Amino acid sequence: MYNKELEKGYLEKKIDPSLDLFEEIKYLQQKKNAVILAHYYQDADIQDIADYIGDSLGLAQEAQKTNAEIILFAGVHFMAETAKILNPNKKVLIPDLNAGCSLADSCPSVKFAKFKTEHPDHIVITYINCTAEIKTLSDIICTSSNAVQIVESLSKDQKIIFAPDKNLGAYINKKTGRNMVLWDGACMVHEIFSLEKIVKLKLQHPNAQLIAHPECEEVVLEKADFIGSTTALLNYSKNNNCNEFIVATETGILHQMQKSSPDKTFIPAPPNNSCACNDCPYMKLNTLEKIYIALKYEQPELLMSEELIKNAKKPILKMLELSAKFGL
Ligand code: 13P
Ligand code: SF4
Repeated sequence: MYNKELEKGYLEKKIDPSLDLFEEIKYLQQKKNAVILAHYYQDADIQDIADYIGDSLGLAQEAQKTNAEIILFAGVHFMAETAKILNPNKKVLIPDLNAGCSLADSCPSVKFAKFKTEHPDHIVITYINCTAEIKTLSDIICTSSNAVQIVESLSKDQKIIFAPDKNLGAYINKKTGRNMVLWDGACMVHEIFSLEKIVKLKLQHPNAQLIAHPECEEVVLEKADFIGSTTALLNYSKNNNCNEFIVATETGILHQMQKSSPDKTFIPAPPNNSCACNDCPYMKLNTLEKIYIALKYEQPELLMSEELIKNAKKPILKMLELSAKFGL
């Protein structure tokens, strides 16, 4: 039964302020055999209590192999959906059901179904940042970690629709020499960077490298020294000799970068106005308090129909199968 108090946030407000939430969460996690999966864009505290921290591909792979009875997904809705699709018989909890995604929202299923009919003979490759309904309309799912390899695994003359991120799609087109038809969607966080401010910052830090997520606009990517998924950016920052990096992605990743390379300097790439920042407002809806409540009451639970799970699963499994083949 859905808890009305939980819906209105009353339970959070009732938490005893003297509770050590780190300890409480650990206790509940063990007692209930729950695993906490967290994306790199979560707050530092959440990353520190997670059993596994990763990018979208790593999280899907981890969800596929977990033996836990409950999965608590500290990320956004489409990520928790993916975990549920891969584990229909497990309980999947999401600390805040409103943790959506502007990129997923930019691709409504009715419009996308029409777009598909306008492009017959095309295979549909869809970025994992989309709803389960969009996944049912897709042939293969990809993430920023495997998109290039997945596109390259298809023959050169195969016509492809790529959705929903036009920036990632344009980057893959450039990298692979393809001419995929792109859906006109984008992520509000990665579109916010100001090229002008980045250029000025680079002048002030001549030795810094610009590292960027492929969801950024082409003008930013053109200036980047390295482009990759959150995991790839993290690994690059660890392994490269450079001591200073300007990071063009969501700020949450800086926590792991700084932890892995305490002597290096990480500067978040500046946004194009002074009031907005490159924090994802959806990712940042999750808090330790909400995680505690979710584990305690086993709510909010992500529920999906069997039909939706069945139809959305095929393109996700295809992605996981291809990723394993590529050694990713
Ligand atoms: P990755 O996790 O693939 O790096 O994608 C970033 C992102 O925007 C997740 O919402
Ligand atoms: Fe969606 Fe962008 Fe937030 Fe990722 S960072 S969840 S793509 S809005």
